[in-house]
Amino acid sequence: MEIDIKELTPSQIYKLMISVIVPRPIAWISTISKNGVYNVAPFSYFAGVSSEPPVVAISVGRKETRAKKDTWKNIEETGEFVINMVTMDTVEKMNITALPFEEDVDEFKEAGLTPIPSSVVKAPRVKESPVNIECRKFEIIEIGKMGLILGEILKVHVRDDILNEKGYVDTRKLEIVGRLGGADYCIITKENTFTLKRPDKR
Ligand SMILES: Cc1cc2nc3c(=O)[nH]c(=O)nc-3n(C[C@H](O)[C@H](O)[C@H](O)COP(=O)(O)O)c2cc1C
Repeated sequence: MEIDIKELTPSQIYKLMISVIVPRPIAWISTISKNGVYNVAPFSYFAGVSSEPPVVAISVGRKETRAKKDTWKNIEETGEFVINMVTMDTVEKMNITALPFEEDVDEFKEAGLTPIPSSVVKAPRVKESPVNIECRKFEIIEIGKMGLILGEILKVHVRDDILNEKGYVDTRKLEIVGRLGGADYCIITKENTFTLKRPDKR
């Protein structure tokens, strides 16, 4: 079947994109508003886009009212955020933080999460997450109704037992969760990962 994008509604395009571009990592983003309210929400339009400088990209949409989602607003106003990785043991809490809470609601409290201080940004880290990435706003590019947020990585916190001697984080120890289409997810486990060495040059 060949699908002509021009014949689909935005909702159909969304369903198609999120079910064919898989698996997607989840940036569980914590921010603080300019009034000091803690916010946390998941975003799977997320990728690392440069290592030099170290930059990540996350695409954040708007609320039903057309206002920018709180994460976008907070990053625009404070210039800072933290990406926390989602593991199997926090997936239910992550799901609570995807609810459309009002901007004056502390979503750490709503989801039963523990905010802990970051090293260089004011936005808190999620204590329950084994990887926290402190970022500073690099640029926000508006693409239609979305805000493509580029963030420069300033600090990375990883749980001591997961960084191996080669400098890689051993994600097989963590059960990191990825998002598929609709309400489906996947987990990285020892059993469903494998190593593939590059072939020698021919
Ligand atoms: C796993 C998952 C991934 C999501 N990815 C995105 C995304 O990439 N972009 C987006 O705008 N919303 C995404 N959402 C929805 C937001 O998390 C949701 O709208 C949230 O309420 C935004 O919160 P905020 O207003 O506090 O920023 C996702 C939800 C879930 C559960």
